[in-house]
Amino acid sequence: MKVDSEVKSRVLELHKIINEHSYNYHSLDNPTIEDSAYDALFNELLELEAKYPGLSFSHSPTQRIGSEPLEGFNKVDHLTPMLSLENAFNTKDLEDFNKRIMERMVSENQVNFSCEPKLDGIAVNLIYKEGFLHQATTRGDGKTGEDITHNIRTIPSIPLSLLESKIKAPSLIEIRGEVFIDINDFKEINKKAKTDSEKIFANPRNAAAGSLRQLDPRVAASRPLKFFAHGIGSLDFGKDTSPKTQMEVFDCYVSWGLPINPLTEQANDINECISYFKKIESLRGQLTYEIDGVVFKVNSFDMQQSLGQVSRAPRWAIARKFPAEVGSTKVKTISFQVGRVGSITPVAEFEPLNIGGVVVSHASIHNFDEIERLDVREGDTVQIKRAGDVIPQIIKVDLSKRKKALQKVKPPTACPSCNSELIKLENEAILRCNAGTNCPAQKTESIRHYVSRNALNIDGLGERIIEMLVQNNLVSSLPDLYLLKKEDLLELEGFAEKSASKLLNSIENSKETTLSRFIYALGIKEVGEATALNLSLNFLHIERFLLASKEELIDINDIGPIAADHIFNYLSKKDNQDQIKKLLKLGIKLQEVQIQSDNLLSAKVVVITGSFTGIARSQLKEELIRVGARVSSSVSKRTDFLVTGEKPGSKLKKALDLGVEVLEEDDVLRILKQ
Ligand code: IVH
Repeated sequence: MKVDSEVKSRVLELHKIINEHSYNYHSLDNPTIEDSAYDALFNELLELEAKYPGLSFSHSPTQRIGSEPLEGFNKVDHLTPMLSLENAFNTKDLEDFNKRIMERMVSENQVNFSCEPKLDGIAVNLIYKEGFLHQATTRGDGKTGEDITHNIRTIPSIPLSLLESKIKAPSLIEIRGEVFIDINDFKEINKKAKTDSEKIFANPRNAAAGSLRQLDPRVAASRPLKFFAHGIGSLDFGKDTSPKTQMEVFDCYVSWGLPINPLTEQANDINECISYFKKIESLRGQLTYEIDGVVFKVNSFDMQQSLGQVSRAPRWAIARKFPAEVGSTKVKTISFQVGRVGSITPVAEFEPLNIGGVVVSHASIHNFDEIERLDVREGDTVQIKRAGDVIPQIIKVDLSKRKKALQKVKPPTACPSCNSELIKLENEAILRCNAGTNCPAQKTESIRHYVSRNALNIDGLGERIIEMLVQNNLVSSLPDLYLLKKEDLLELEGFAEKSASKLLNSIENSKETTLSRFIYALGIKEVGEATALNLSLNFLHIERFLLASKEELIDINDIGPIAADHIFNYLSKKDNQDQIKKLLKLGIKLQEVQIQSDNLLSAKVVVITGSFTGIARSQLKEELIRVGARVSSSVSKRTDFLVTGEKPGSKLKKALDLGVEVLEEDDVLRILKQ
């Protein structure tokens, strides 16, 4: 017995020593031990683990690579959503960002920011429980990602157990960061891939993504993946020790052995942010990894919380992107594509070119007016830029290279997919095909939208497969997806037993969804994700939504008369109602909208008036609905509370006349937090 406990403490001591040396080597680039001495410690641990299997712990530094490849990736909900960032493309955008913050933070005369390079890698979420790496996931759609723990464990700079430090690691924490590959390592990978006739990666980001998207952890282990932590999701600290700022979080990370970007700095105002951007821009060429900008985050967590978010991006952070990169190429053809709701978009296909590490071969052109403005013709040499993140765009035609007369592009008169006549609405610059889902292109696009990540999220139904399904008459409307049989799929090119089962499985899994995803998936004009969420929070049940009147729709904050018209028209069509009912009959299950019912405002009739500083009006409304309040637009005897912001107007007078209780912004925010 005694021997065992001595062995156990030696094993745990070895974990600690090895982890510390490993951190110094991989994260700090500062080796503190000879390689041979490190190997001796590692071998001692391996031998002890072989001799005493009961002492072989999953968080041991010897256990980075699991033995068996996985069968597939599991989907996992993040405890807290992984948000995206708003972009700033110039100094004015940054100043506007600061102005918006200062307008909301009226009581602050100074707002500090954390500044970090924006790594061009893959965002991951690491969950540590009781200090041990418990699970790692990709960002996915921000709400749900894929379990890649097996691959993340192979990354040497990611600790399997957090180092002990003065600040005790919390019992649960979601640590967010970026996995990336150094530029030189990426070149090496491609060199080797070329000699082995394997897949060449377009850029380091794709190489990192490709390595994490492997079922066999040995592939990831063979790639020189690196990691910098840059954010935090859920955390469960004891109340008093919890970090209060982004910079304090970075200090914690360092003390637990997690690598952070050494160029991270604090800026005390927006001008310091602007200088930081200039500094990083000039250092960019010397960095060993690729960055595409700089991220600024309001340092204080309290302020972050009161600033809140709009759609999927927080108001308290922004990415200042480097200018778009530009290249020149020759236009091969200009064709016309039909969108989900029939709009016709010209698309230029050109000779492929590499812009900033990404090979691009076509660009959409907004509308026909834009073709005229650019005067772009087939055969022209054009300048292309990759705007913002990814979307390539034609900036201008190089007329000096137009050696011979080229034909002007003529607007199409008939739909390129179904040949119906095209219409142009008076105040729209866009040509439209009005054949709806009778047009094969619109049918394909509406299915593509339905299965897309933020809609029903059906994996494995790419554009090519959907086209095949439509062309072979296997799917001509959304419900048909759920009637697909394995035999049907096996007849299609590229399907085998395993891939067919896999697709049917993901179609089956998609049946469990939420009302907001489902409404979004229907592809109603003007109904994006935010509107769909709003609709779901207001109607709560699909049956109620199907009966929505125009007045009810207009009454919903953030839904204007045009969107209300589109939604109402959509719901007035019997075909659409039938389609939804059919989908429900086929087994679509819509999770109950989660409403908290024990809040002071639950089940109360609340009216909002005036403008707010700490929260957007639409978000306030959403939060009220989440606690079960019934938000109404006019004050009456039935009103329980009037929530007033600045400049409340006539509703306040009426509420006072009727003796309705009035809550100010601070009161309501406090109650919502309960
Ligand atoms: S913070 C709400 N910091 O950029 C804050 N993101 O467009 C969300 N990224 O998905 C992210 N470097 O993959 C943050 N220093 C950094 C980053 C960074 C790269 C990526 C991240 C995220 C995307 C947001």
